Amino acid sequence: MDTVNLAIIGATGAVGEAIVELLDQSTFPVQELYLLASERTAGTSLMFRNKPVMVGILEDFDFSQVHLAIFVATDEVSSLYVPKAEVAGCLVIDNSQTFADSAPLVIPGVNNDQLTSGNRPSVVVNPDSSVIFLWTVLKPIYDQCGIYRVNVTVCDSVSHHGKKALHELAAQTASLLNGQGAAPKVYNQQIAFNVLSNVGGVDENGHSARELRIVKQSEKIIVDPQLQLNVTCIQVPVFYADSMVVTIETSDPIDANEVRKLLEKCNEIIVLDNQEKEGFATPVTAAAGKSEIFVSRIRNDMGHSRGINLWLVADNVRKGAARNTIMIAEELKKSFL
Ligand SMILES: NC(=O)c1ccc[n+]([C@@H]2O[C@H](COP(=O)([O-])OP(=O)(O)OC[C@H]3O[C@@H](n4cnc5c(N)ncnc54)[C@H](OP(=O)(O)O)[C@@H]3O)[C@@H](O)[C@H]2O)c1
Repeated sequence: MDTVNLAIIGATGAVGEAIVELLDQSTFPVQELYLLASERTAGTSLMFRNKPVMVGILEDFDFSQVHLAIFVATDEVSSLYVPKAEVAGCLVIDNSQTFADSAPLVIPGVNNDQLTSGNRPSVVVNPDSSVIFLWTVLKPIYDQCGIYRVNVTVCDSVSHHGKKALHELAAQTASLLNGQGAAPKVYNQQIAFNVLSNVGGVDENGHSARELRIVKQSEKIIVDPQLQLNVTCIQVPVFYADSMVVTIETSDPIDANEVRKLLEKCNEIIVLDNQEKEGFATPVTAAAGKSEIFVSRIRNDMGHSRGINLWLVADNVRKGAARNTIMIAEELKKSFL
């Protein structure tokens, strides 16, 4: 097949708009593009390759018109409509977590074998964005010298929670600067000028669902019973792009200079590790709106001879959702479309 008929479900959301923008700039051979959402935004339009494309209503859509359907709406939408798309015979890339246990989770460049060996999958899941960032950066180190422990603190930006959360941070910031109160709705505590140690509650062991998800998905992507992972997710008042404080312990020795050289050679990664020359990466100055992962502060552990510390930042909407989704689509195109 030379060209692909493509549907984007949730096209008017934060991730959907980023996918349309990146697709527009790509050479992915789109024949017909269908943009779908709920009644709330149906009838609006987005520009694609110099033409406006009107957003339609998902409820009415006939999936047999498309070869590939990209879901970037909600868990409920994916639960209801992904099976309909499968029955109609189209391939699905899903950004919700609904099928994460049953379908392959793919990070192109890390575990492409999921798409090159075996049968055509009907659904491929875009992993959690933190899992994408973590393993895009750690896999080259893992391949070179083994990693047996990863300890990571994820600082989530509010764009993780969609457009409503972005508006809440902006509105609270303005309100507090005007001497008025913050009225939390998306978050259960004030997010502007604050840091939340948890969003969404914890289980009986004190872990959040997202912390457990990052561990579970990592174990599905890097199949290694020796690998130990420990994850903490906090919420910071940053609009776009996540930050991660990562400490690894390696099986064979490697030092910070070798890690830096290794990462400098990798696609999708930009090393910014010279404070005088380029400054260290921050979510706002380096990552927001970009499709790469930025790595800084690569240094030896102070108390462990095979420990390495690093800091990474990447845009969860752009790199974690949109770019990885398009990379999966490109891999599917090579093998199955
Ligand atoms: N934000 C991130 O960092 C991130 C990263 C990775 C994956 N994801 C996943 O990507 C998905 C989208 O996230 P987002 O941040 O873009 O959310 P969002 O900004 O809230 O956008 C949600 C989109 O889904 C549509 N939608 C909602 N309910 C619908 C329904 N019943 N029928 C049809 N369309 C419906 C919305 O359209 P209307 O406005 O018309 O209702 C909108 O286009 C979620 O599954 C999320 O977990 C997000």
